[in-house]
Amino acid sequence: MKRIFTACFLIVFFFFHIVITRASDKEVLVVYFSRDGHTHMVAQKLAEAFDADIERLRDQKERTGMIGTLSAGKDAMAHNVTEIEPLANNPNDYSVILIGTPAWFSNMAPAVRTFIEQFHLTDKTIGLFSTCHRIGADKATQQMAELISAEKAAGYARLPLTHHDLEEGMLAEKIKQFESAINAQRLNE
Ligand SMILES: Cc1cc2nc3c(=O)[nH]c(=O)nc-3n(C[C@H](O)[C@H](O)[C@H](O)COP(=O)(O)O)c2cc1C
Repeated sequence: MKRIFTACFLIVFFFFHIVITRASDKEVLVVYFSRDGHTHMVAQKLAEAFDADIERLRDQKERTGMIGTLSAGKDAMAHNVTEIEPLANNPNDYSVILIGTPAWFSNMAPAVRTFIEQFHLTDKTIGLFSTCHRIGADKATQQMAELISAEKAAGYARLPLTHHDLEEGMLAEKIKQFESAINAQRLNE
């Protein structure tokens, strides 16, 4: 009798454990690099809009100061990878990955290139966002798309932003359009 009771207890316990764990699982992960905070701000808004987990990539190489800025530009233009700190979240656990980068001479930042090259993302729903001062965010998102999958690149939702676009009302509108594009992509898969 005691054994039956213990077995029933364990079955009920594991059932509720699975239900509770699944209920708190998120489907969307926002992964981004930001040196000066603009891409970070967009990533936070996206995480709110999509009820997503969020992962900020940390480049082990110094990217600030005169030397750091020079190496940032040089590495981005040369399509170099870098060393990034281990991630807190596992991208394999999510079905939608939103990836963000600052545009460095119209290229993605090396930390983002490293992330894309480290993970197999072709079976995910992908959204790509980038911030720039005036020109280059569209090229950076295109570059990310092609690096993930040349075949699927054209279908990935994009959110290229200039600093002018970061004004509250305008950003909210663009995020809504991005959400619609992601939802359309999910329906097509
Ligand atoms: C090395 C480097 C290269 C950059 N190249 C461009 C560029 O080609 N076009 C542009 O409009 N802004 C350029 N910027 C500005 C950044 O793209 C812009 O400030 C971006 O929003 C920064 O993102 P963050 O604040 O998340 O780091 C560059 C900045 C750096 C540090």
